[in-house]
Amino acid sequence: MSTPRILVMAGSSRNGSLARRLAAASVAPLEARGASVDLIELADYPMPLYNGDLEAESGLPEAAVSLQGRLYESQGLLVVSPEYNGSITPLLKNTLDWCSRPNPDDAERSGGKVYAGRAAAAMATSPGPMGGVRVLFHLRDILGYLGLHVIPQQLGVGMAGKAIGADGRLAEARQQDMFESTLNALVDTARRLA
Ligand SMILES: Cc1cc2nc3c(=O)[nH]c(=O)nc-3n(C[C@H](O)[C@H](O)[C@H](O)COP(=O)(O)O)c2cc1C
Repeated sequence: MSTPRILVMAGSSRNGSLARRLAAASVAPLEARGASVDLIELADYPMPLYNGDLEAESGLPEAAVSLQGRLYESQGLLVVSPEYNGSITPLLKNTLDWCSRPNPDDAERSGGKVYAGRAAAAMATSPGPMGGVRVLFHLRDILGYLGLHVIPQQLGVGMAGKAIGADGRLAEARQQDMFESTLNALVDTARRLA
């Protein structure tokens, strides 16, 4: 069996972020399913708010070029986003947008080619009871638009502060099962598409 590389990112860079906690909790189950995991922190990829003039003057930020390379090397993407007013965070959208831009110095590893044909899974976290369920639909749409194959399985974790245990497992057995079956489907799809 092949070892698909799964890039995991959370749409928050906040200390104590619930989305970062769920992203980190995915590493062991993904590895247990035979994936190699690239857990990244968006704080390590600082990018200015996208502006076409900035791009025309200076090209892509170094962080975007670097992240494009890591996306390109991956066969699957797991995105865990908080819900901001029913949608994804500006940090996440800005990152995805910059990485979708072509780099004239590296046409192969930039633009749509860093996303196209790869598997993706969407997850959400919220401190409230709804689990960020609305963000999942926006996130799926955006990932699909970028050319990723978004798997049907998804997960929204509500009351995430309590739901994600210190051991990196979800406190409710049913939710842990859904988490694992979503990760399983992601690895399986990434493997088939690779
Ligand atoms: C601008 C803004 C909008 C928010 N909108 C929502 C929302 O629509 N639904 C929700 O459940 N929580 C909402 N929240 C609360 C966030 O889910 C909460 O702050 C969460 O902990 C942020 O994610 P993080 O813990 O991963 O940093 C919002 C927070 C901010 C700052």
